[in-house]
Amino acid sequence: MNWNEWIEQTLDITRTNISRFQTRFPHVSQGDGKYQLVEHTDWTEGFWSGILWLSYEYSRDETIRQAAEAATASFQDRLTRRSHLEHHDIGFLYLLSTGAQWIVEQDEAARKSTLEAADLLLTRWRPTARILQAWGPEGDEINGGRIIIDCLMNLPLLYWASQQTGDPEYADIARIHAEQSQRFLVRGDGSSYHTFYFDTATGDAVRGGTHQGYRDGSTWTRGQAWGIYGFALSYRYFREASFLDTSKRLARYFIDHLPADLIAYWDFDAPQNESEPRDSSASAIAACGVLELVEHLPADDPDRADLLAFAERAVASLAKHCFSGGTNEAREGEGFLRHGSYYVRGGIATDDYVIWGDYFYLEALMRLGHGIPGYWYERGR
Ligand code: GLY
Repeated sequence: MNWNEWIEQTLDITRTNISRFQTRFPHVSQGDGKYQLVEHTDWTEGFWSGILWLSYEYSRDETIRQAAEAATASFQDRLTRRSHLEHHDIGFLYLLSTGAQWIVEQDEAARKSTLEAADLLLTRWRPTARILQAWGPEGDEINGGRIIIDCLMNLPLLYWASQQTGDPEYADIARIHAEQSQRFLVRGDGSSYHTFYFDTATGDAVRGGTHQGYRDGSTWTRGQAWGIYGFALSYRYFREASFLDTSKRLARYFIDHLPADLIAYWDFDAPQNESEPRDSSASAIAACGVLELVEHLPADDPDRADLLAFAERAVASLAKHCFSGGTNEAREGEGFLRHGSYYVRGGIATDDYVIWGDYFYLEALMRLGHGIPGYWYERGR
C-alpha cells in the first residue's frame, strides 16, 4: 500500500493549513469545504496539535515543529483559566497537545500541564454512580449521571498519569469507569449505546440513550469506533482479557455492518443507502482502534489476519473515496477526509471535514507506515 505517498499528501495540506489557521484551531466545515476556526472553546483543538506533532515526528520539518509548539503553548493557558473545560474531553485535548509534546520532546512543562489536566478530569468522578460524568456541572439535572462511550478515549490520560506519578488513584477510577461502560454501554450482540444514565443519588443504572445517534437504542458508528479503540487502550494498561474481548466484539460488529467500501454510514440503524450521510471519521477511528487491538492478539488468534486486513483496506478506501486529493491549487477543501459527519440529526456538519477524522486518518497512516502510534500512551509501554 502507498502509506508514505498518502502521508506526504497530508503534509502538503498541513503546510498550507499552518499559514491558513495561524493561532486558531480547525473544527468542522459546513458545506463550503472550509474549516470553521475555534479558539479553545471546543473539545476538538487537540486534533490539530496532534496532526502537527505526528507530521513533525514523521518529517522532522522545523517549520512544523514550531507550529506544533505554538499550537500547544495555548493549552496551559486554557487550563489555568479553566476555560470551556467542564466536560470529560480533557483527554482528547491534553493527550494530543501537551501530552504529545512530552512524548516527542520530553518537555517538563508539558508533562506538568498534562498531569494538571488529569487532575481536572478526576474531578468528574461521581463515586455513588461509579462513573466519570461526561457533560455539565456536578448535580446537573439531565447530565449529572450520564456517561458516553466517547469517554473511553479520555481514560488513557488517567492511565498515563498513574504511570507517570506512581499514584494508582487515576487508573483505579478509570478502570471502574471502563467496567461500568463495558457492562452498560456494550450490548450482548456487540453493538453499543452512545450514552447511559445512572441515578446519582442511588447509583442505579437507569437507561441507555443517544445524543448524536439515530435513536436511543441505535448504534452510532462513531461511538462504536470510540469503544473499539478505548477498550483496546484499557487492555494495554491493565492487560485484563475482558477489555480485549470487548474491543474485539465491538470491532466484529462494526466490520460486519459496514457497506462494501468500508466507509461507515453515520449510524448502523439508519437506512444504509446512498442518500444517508456517511461518517468517514468513524472508519478512520475504527481502523486505528483495530490496529491497536491487533497488536495485543496472539499470532494464532483466528480473527487477527481478518482484523488487520480490515484496517488496511479501510484506510486504502478512505484514501481512494474520501481523501480531498489534488494539488494545493486544485484541492476541493481544507481537510484530509471528506464525508465526515458530526451531528446528523442536529444538522451540524453532515457531509463535511471534521478535524478528528483528519487526525485519525493520519494516525492510521503513521501506524501502518511507520509504527508511530499517536499519543494515547507513553512509548515503549
Ligand atoms: N466526542 C464527540 C464526538 O465524537 O462527536
